[in-house]
Amino acid sequence: MLKGRKILITGATGEVARAIAESLAAANEVWAAARFTNAALRQRLEAQKIRTCTWTLGDDDFTGLPDDFDHVIHAACNIFPVANDYDASIRDNAEGTGLLMTHVRRAKSFLYVSSLAAYSEVPDNGTPRKETDPQGCHQRFAPSYGIGKTATEAVVRTLARIHRLPTLIGRLGMNYGIGCSGAPDFYFRDMMAGKPIVVPPRGVSYCSLVHNSDVVEWVEPLLAAASVPANIVNWTGDDWVDEREMVEFMARIARLSPKLVEDPKAGYYGGVADPTKRRAITGPARPWKQSFLEMLRANYPDHVFVDVD
Ligand SMILES: NC(=O)c1ccc[n+]([C@@H]2O[C@H](COP(=O)([O-])OP(=O)(O)OC[C@H]3O[C@@H](n4cnc5c(N)ncnc54)[C@H](OP(=O)(O)O)[C@@H]3O)[C@@H](O)[C@H]2O)c1
Repeated sequence: MLKGRKILITGATGEVARAIAESLAAANEVWAAARFTNAALRQRLEAQKIRTCTWTLGDDDFTGLPDDFDHVIHAACNIFPVANDYDASIRDNAEGTGLLMTHVRRAKSFLYVSSLAAYSEVPDNGTPRKETDPQGCHQRFAPSYGIGKTATEAVVRTLARIHRLPTLIGRLGMNYGIGCSGAPDFYFRDMMAGKPIVVPPRGVSYCSLVHNSDVVEWVEPLLAAASVPANIVNWTGDDWVDEREMVEFMARIARLSPKLVEDPKAGYYGGVADPTKRRAITGPARPWKQSFLEMLRANYPDHVFVDVD
């Protein structure tokens, strides 16, 4: 467990990085940088003695942000406001990350939270992608997102070498877990509300899941695996799942019978990753079915779920 370190976490009010910041806060000096568009989340972090600094990804103004961190976990990302503006996506995310890395270049390690969205679309998105596979994707939900990630990775790789800053680029899969509001939860909330669920047919949309508790626990080994040149690792669980199967599984353990509306274009987040490299660094991941049951029981305490068979 990391102790006594000075750690910067960008995007620490977000779905992924908040749990990381909160897990490290008791034993380390943790700094959170973001715009803090949600004041309540800032207060929540500060109540746990996390120091906060207002900063905008893409700006070269680092006023108030120290430059002597031991470790940096960079999760902030400008996605939806620049969804159709490739120039702005690259300026904010790629150039902004280069400016950040230069500011914190004395760190012992830098962990960049990338995404499986960096991989190119393939006809069969159930084929697991290796870290060296082709990139270049224009996701329906935010066309500039994948290109922004690829451009940022290139900047991260370059600055790791220029600054001799040990770096790991972690391509994150679909984050889920207790308290999380990712795609599994979006589906489940609609089921609970009795809404029809628009799903892809079986065999069309797969995703690599990663439990938020695994994300948190793997930060330390991933930081230890940072290197120059940057180490690139699929940051996903061991399982990948057909999105349709995921929906049907949640309905089954919740004893719900939602109306499923099939649409080949439906699906939140296509693409799966080969977790072999990550597993060698962190060990095995939590299995998704049992973890989904625990997540749903915690997130919906008033609903009765049946055990996984
Ligand atoms: N969630 C997933 O399943 C998933 C999957 C793959 C990859 N990822 C990657 O994981 C990272 C975190 O994702 P998330 O789901 O946690 O996102 P999120 O919940 O939307 O949080 C984004 C965080 O970034 C901050 N931020 C956004 N725009 C910013 C800007 N212009 N300047 C400074 N801070 C900014 C936000 O705070 P403010 O709005 O207050 O600035 C917030 O703290 C991202 O890099 C994302 O690409 C996530």
